[in-house]
Amino acid sequence: MKQYQNYIDGKWVDSEKKITIYSPINQEELGNVPAMSQEEVDKAMEAARKALPAWRALSAYERAQYLHRAADILEERKESIGEILAKEVAKGIKASIGEVDRSAHLIHYAAEEGLRVYGASLEGGTYEPAAKTKISLIRREPVGIVLAIAPYNYPVNLSASKIAPALIGGNVVMFKPPTQGSISGLLLAQAFADAGIPAGVFNTITGRGSEIGDYIIEHPEVNFINFTGSTPIGQKVGKLAGIRPIMLELGGKDAAVVLSDADLDHAAKEIVSGAFSYSGQRCTAIKRVLVVNEVADQLAEKLQTEVEKLTVGDPFENKDITPVIDEQSAVFIEGLVQDAQSKGAVELTPYKREKNLIWPTLLDEVTPEMDIAWEEPFGPVLPIIRVSSIEEALELCNQSEYGLQSSIFTKNYPLAFEFASKLEVGTVHINAKTQRGPDNFPFLGIKGSGAGVQGIKYSIEAMTKLKSVVFDIQ
Ligand code: NAP
Ligand code: G3H
Repeated sequence: MKQYQNYIDGKWVDSEKKITIYSPINQEELGNVPAMSQEEVDKAMEAARKALPAWRALSAYERAQYLHRAADILEERKESIGEILAKEVAKGIKASIGEVDRSAHLIHYAAEEGLRVYGASLEGGTYEPAAKTKISLIRREPVGIVLAIAPYNYPVNLSASKIAPALIGGNVVMFKPPTQGSISGLLLAQAFADAGIPAGVFNTITGRGSEIGDYIIEHPEVNFINFTGSTPIGQKVGKLAGIRPIMLELGGKDAAVVLSDADLDHAAKEIVSGAFSYSGQRCTAIKRVLVVNEVADQLAEKLQTEVEKLTVGDPFENKDITPVIDEQSAVFIEGLVQDAQSKGAVELTPYKREKNLIWPTLLDEVTPEMDIAWEEPFGPVLPIIRVSSIEEALELCNQSEYGLQSSIFTKNYPLAFEFASKLEVGTVHINAKTQRGPDNFPFLGIKGSGAGVQGIKYSIEAMTKLKSVVFDIQ
């Protein structure tokens, strides 16, 4: 079986303890990854700290050359990395290759964007006449060691979206991939290693979050924590981080609100694609439909037609619905469906499960008393909640503990903008499904969905800090 290693201080290294990674598709053994010990983490942190001065002293242009090379390598290897990724997280092969390709583009863009990180200057006299001889030169400096922790659902892209902006900003990186997804994460690291990134600038830490997670979060060498994952773990990260800056991108319960004047054919297509791609395992998946009564029957019928077109099965045959990440998740999703069924929800497409493969399930007549109205299933289940007015839709949207994104489908743009301004979310899409990209847009969650703003330029800003150098010209 293939033995994968961590990349630390410019070398590939083993650990005594190993974790075997199995494919959620068929339990095939994919390889072993090291489970790093605390002592090994300490050594990696030391190497990162040592590498920081020389890396931050380079010009952004010089740093960008390493990123461009790594992106080119990723692009060259997108098929082989995509194949492992598809096996490791049961994502469709086309989408898996697409994820690697998207990451290469993101790294190129980050390298370019890093060249446009400008400082600023301020004249004191514009505020206070007596201070007219004072000038503040405002510079952006790296924060230091960035700990990047990624979730299983985008083990390459949501890693690259942290690593590339951190590196171009002059930081050094400790990267902890998700355990289920760690082989893909290590292959991303290999692209940086093969691009010749200087020793210690980019290091990896594999191991279970439940075992090594608290230790790395609390590690005194870490200056910034950039975390994407579930809300409960994110809350824990927030508590352990203390006064250090963090970025948290967490769970969501994105709503698609459909008004009576919407183009229902278009809305149904967007909603089904938004809800079911990668079997609903996306933070930005549409996780509930709120439709006004006047068009609820029509929309439900159209959604049903679209859901019935979805294919189910093997990621390597590019089926729309593939196995969810593990059986534990499948059982959790089943619990939400059973709760809804017991409280009167109507199955428009029949619920069916075989181990961790769940058939796409559309539930109508869902009410706020049902757990599925509020919880994130992270699977191929979509509840429809019928509402009497846009006001009721707004209230239900904002009652959620989450605040990631929402969609609104209507031809009334002034109303859509007014609705958007009242929604407690980071992003509102008008007449389109919820989604993170394009990757240069700001991407953020509020309330239980996170803190801080991602998006290439915003991530660079978040992982660099301002320094004001004041001098007096008299
Ligand atoms: P997760 O269980 O929270 O894990 C995320 C990452 O945190 C993994 O690398 C995990 O490592 C690590 N981890 C676990 N316990 C930790 C601890 N005590 N300290 C530090 N790290 C720890 O989430 P997931 O199941 O991988 O991903 C699904 C969730 O992520 C969903 O809720 C989804 O909505 C959310 N998500 C949000 C966004 C966004 O941008 N808003 C994007 C994608 C996903 P192990 O794998 O070793 O456990
Ligand atoms: O899972 C969360 C991701 O950030 C979603 O990204 O909307 O591009 O699929 P996406």
